Amino acid sequence: MAQATPFLLVLFLTLGAHSVSAEKCSLAGHWVNDLGSNMTIDIMKANGNFTGIYYTAVSVHSIEKSPLLGSQHLPDQPNHQPAFGFTVHWTFSDSMAVFMGQCFVDDGKEVLKTMWLLRSHVDVLRDDWKATRVGYNEFTCLE
Ligand code: BTN
Repeated sequence: MAQATPFLLVLFLTLGAHSVSAEKCSLAGHWVNDLGSNMTIDIMKANGNFTGIYYTAVSVHSIEKSPLLGSQHLPDQPNHQPAFGFTVHWTFSDSMAVFMGQCFVDDGKEVLKTMWLLRSHVDVLRDDWKATRVGYNEFTCLE
């Protein structure tokens, strides 16, 4: 038993360190979603607010890169997998999108599970019923 103790200690510390680092999920970086849209989150402030650029792969309009503005929960646990939300102000159409989701580490890979609402502009109140679309996007991290 005395011989096994140092081995068990090393094993415990190795597994413990792995599980701590493996679960951390960082929103900052380059992402691509299941539609082929690209997103870069470049500025992450200490209070959890962030900005970035969204480049959608799909639209009926002529596509341009558009700014995003969001906020995430702060790291308060070792296995930080934060919930977040952001808006995209499309520069090439009169619609707005909001995304909300959570950053997960799955099998060592970061993934963002999101849902979105896309609000289009309509000219009259009676068209309001058809102005909002809803959907789901999954983003994976580009190295
Ligand atoms: C528009 O067509 O008015 C703006 C572009 C909307 C793109 C949508 S937002 C939700 C979905 N996820 C994407 O990556 N692109 C589409």
